[in-house]
Amino acid sequence: MAYLIDGKRISQEIKDELKEKAAALKEQGIQGCLAVIQVGDDPASAVYVRNKKRACAYIGIDSLAYELPEETTEEELLDLIGRLNADEKVNGILVQLPVPAHINENRIIQAISPSKDVDGFHPQNVGALVSGLAGFVSCTPAGVIQLLKRSGIKIAGKNCVVIGRSNIVGKPMALLMLRENATVTIAHSKTENLKDICKRADILIVAIGKPKFIDASYVKEGAVVIDVGIHRNAENKLCGDVDFDSVSPITEAITPVPGGVGPMTIAMLMNNCVEAMGR
Ligand code: GUN
Repeated sequence: MAYLIDGKRISQEIKDELKEKAAALKEQGIQGCLAVIQVGDDPASAVYVRNKKRACAYIGIDSLAYELPEETTEEELLDLIGRLNADEKVNGILVQLPVPAHINENRIIQAISPSKDVDGFHPQNVGALVSGLAGFVSCTPAGVIQLLKRSGIKIAGKNCVVIGRSNIVGKPMALLMLRENATVTIAHSKTENLKDICKRADILIVAIGKPKFIDASYVKEGAVVIDVGIHRNAENKLCGDVDFDSVSPITEAITPVPGGVGPMTIAMLMNNCVEAMGR
């Protein structure tokens, strides 16, 4: 029977460690403050933003919420980011993505001071990850590394296949696995023989964005499978990119959806916020 990697428990463990660190920093007179900006009223984004504020309160970090209307201009948003960059009380800034189509996402990401970029999206932080330097790392892939390490799964020397090449998940995920000395393959929508490539993976990390796309025919017996996807089906039930019922019997370990990778993203955001307090 597969070992179930418990993201709920591991994320709670991390948040409790961070709460202690934030309290110790507070004793030195350092108070954390995260500014969260949402433009428009996308309901999914609103849930994420609410959860981020709640996590800040749990850890003992102040949060500033900016809920801006859909019509906000790029200049207005850049102006707010400029003010938050200059505000010494604010040590983390996050703009919830996606932003409305009339705003250039790259300009926004690049406007955030790299030292306050707790999402790890700024090219300077991405470059630091590529070069093996210190910097903020994108939260979801950082969370996957914690899931593997805290579940006692060996990474070094293993064949790892990452499906997906987004800036937020796939690319930083591959770089982090490489940093942990895995042999890494990045597969994507144009990859030929996807099944054969996946079947070689000791660790298969799936971020395709298609519900239940990966069934047992893609997975080697005894592999570790990490499912980054999250979807709601017709019956309003959550599922991942992996067909859990088909895949789990042949794996050594697997993440469920919900309760796997999902809760780790906010835990790692809080980790980046606590790190930002020490800078
Ligand atoms: N939208 C979806 N995921 C993320 C994330 O990790 N950070 C931000 N800022 N927006 C997102």
